[in-house]
Amino acid sequence: MRALSVPITPFPDQRPGTSGLRKRVAVFRQQGYLEAFIQSTFDALPDAVGEGVGGKTLVLGGDGRFFNTEAAQIILRMMAANGVARAIVGRDGLLSTPAASAIIRKQQAFGGIIMSASHNPGGPNGDFGIKYNAANGGPAPERITDAIYRHTQHLSAYRTIEAGDLPLDRLGTTPLGAMTVEVVDPVADYAELMQRIFDFDRIRDLFRGSFHIRFDAMHAVTGPYARAIFEHILGAAPGTAVNAQPLTDFGGHHPDPNPTYAADLIGALTTAGGPDFGAASDGDGDRNMVVSRQGPISPSDSLAILTANARHIPWFKSGLPGVARSMPTSRAVDRVAAALGIDCYETPTGWKYFGSLLDAGHIALCGEESAGTGSNHVREKDGLWAVLFWLNLLAARREPAEAIVADHWRQYGRDYYARHDYEGVDADAANRLIHRLRDAVPGLPGRRVGAFTIAAADDFAYTDPTDGSVTVHQGIRIVTEDDARIVYRLSGTGTEGATLRVYLERYEADESRHALDAAVALAPLANAAAELARIAEMVGRSQPSVVA
Ligand code: G1P
Ligand code: ZN
Repeated sequence: MRALSVPITPFPDQRPGTSGLRKRVAVFRQQGYLEAFIQSTFDALPDAVGEGVGGKTLVLGGDGRFFNTEAAQIILRMMAANGVARAIVGRDGLLSTPAASAIIRKQQAFGGIIMSASHNPGGPNGDFGIKYNAANGGPAPERITDAIYRHTQHLSAYRTIEAGDLPLDRLGTTPLGAMTVEVVDPVADYAELMQRIFDFDRIRDLFRGSFHIRFDAMHAVTGPYARAIFEHILGAAPGTAVNAQPLTDFGGHHPDPNPTYAADLIGALTTAGGPDFGAASDGDGDRNMVVSRQGPISPSDSLAILTANARHIPWFKSGLPGVARSMPTSRAVDRVAAALGIDCYETPTGWKYFGSLLDAGHIALCGEESAGTGSNHVREKDGLWAVLFWLNLLAARREPAEAIVADHWRQYGRDYYARHDYEGVDADAANRLIHRLRDAVPGLPGRRVGAFTIAAADDFAYTDPTDGSVTVHQGIRIVTEDDARIVYRLSGTGTEGATLRVYLERYEADESRHALDAAVALAPLANAAAELARIAEMVGRSQPSVVA
């Protein structure tokens, strides 16, 4: 097979964000675009981690969206040309993000390439994405993504080989040049790991009774995982996994498990005679939404409840060393950590910050308000794992999910929580808003806004306890005298303009006030947040486009 070096001009827009490079499919399909990013990644690794991919094992898989299989073939040829010894690929080019992380770790691979744009729409007019995960199974740290970006700026050629497409629909081993390609069942290693973490016998007992769940795979990658694990291994009724066939355009929907895009699921749960528990996951299977018969359980509450109940899970039977939440996630888990006497870390948004705490053994559980929950079993958030955690908990406590939630609030108090997103606003205007707040921070304590008096304000900065590295400007935090909190930050993942996120939370200890509608409970704080940042005036929007 002939090795080729194909000349190329750099693409200046290839700066990977916290979740890799995400662009429209049309951008990725430009001649040489995908190739430029992959070659830059391979070229960057010797600078960033001291070793390149030559002679190494790499894992490859994606969420099945449009362009996934074409991209997989291109990447395999480039791996072969760059001297990779062994490529492990999920059948049909599929691997959920957490399964890819699990395989990298289990096979002690050098790293992996994940093809996904997560919860964003797919299809010819949708999004595509690529990210590199390191040997710990987690998203590339900044030192790698910065090096990739540097290389994208002056790349002059990429390496590939002349070879036809490989049959990725058949399990087994095929040579590609000097490289060995191993096509593996995308579910097997992951399912085996789940059986080591949870009490599958107990969950099987639960399904033997009258207990029913519905899992909505949203036509994305978790369908085959959910069928195998819930229906075949755990004995849930056939049809428990709905929308379980992965489609390249996710059936035309957003594979984003939130109350807007998973409204059917919530409808089913809150209707008499519906399932006892519901859940959904996103395009690449790392996010989760869990739903009781009272509606969705907020991700911040879910993290707190899982922490409080970790003792029911075999994997955590010796306790938790500590937990972590992203800064904008509600402080519900902090209360649980305090009661358990364990550390609770507050990190910037993005999974990579949890990765170093997990690697160092400082924490074993972590989560984000944006439907991400995970643990030390992999180095990504993990949607199905979170659902299995809940199932194990329901099986151990033999109480409905809504009762477990109410009981948690009774014991710890309730943190009412909401996120207001102003999507697609003018990027300069959004930056001005944040700068203005940042400049105002020193003068904010003592100031009144609406019914609240500001007690403290800062521009969140984080020092990683494992290596002392400092990350600044991670969002403006405002805490009021009655311990409500407002956080303002700009999204780092959007593809159009800017997205301003405003996170609102208010603690309520009084049990008789735990059943309010969150929007009602938070209305005064939402008004205060809009007023303080002068949102309408600064970005021209009087209402958020999404309330999550
Ligand atoms: C969003 C979420 C964040 C998550 C990230 C990747 O990032 O808010 O919690 O880690 O997607 O899934 P943002 O757009 O807010 O920067
Ligand atoms: Zn995702």
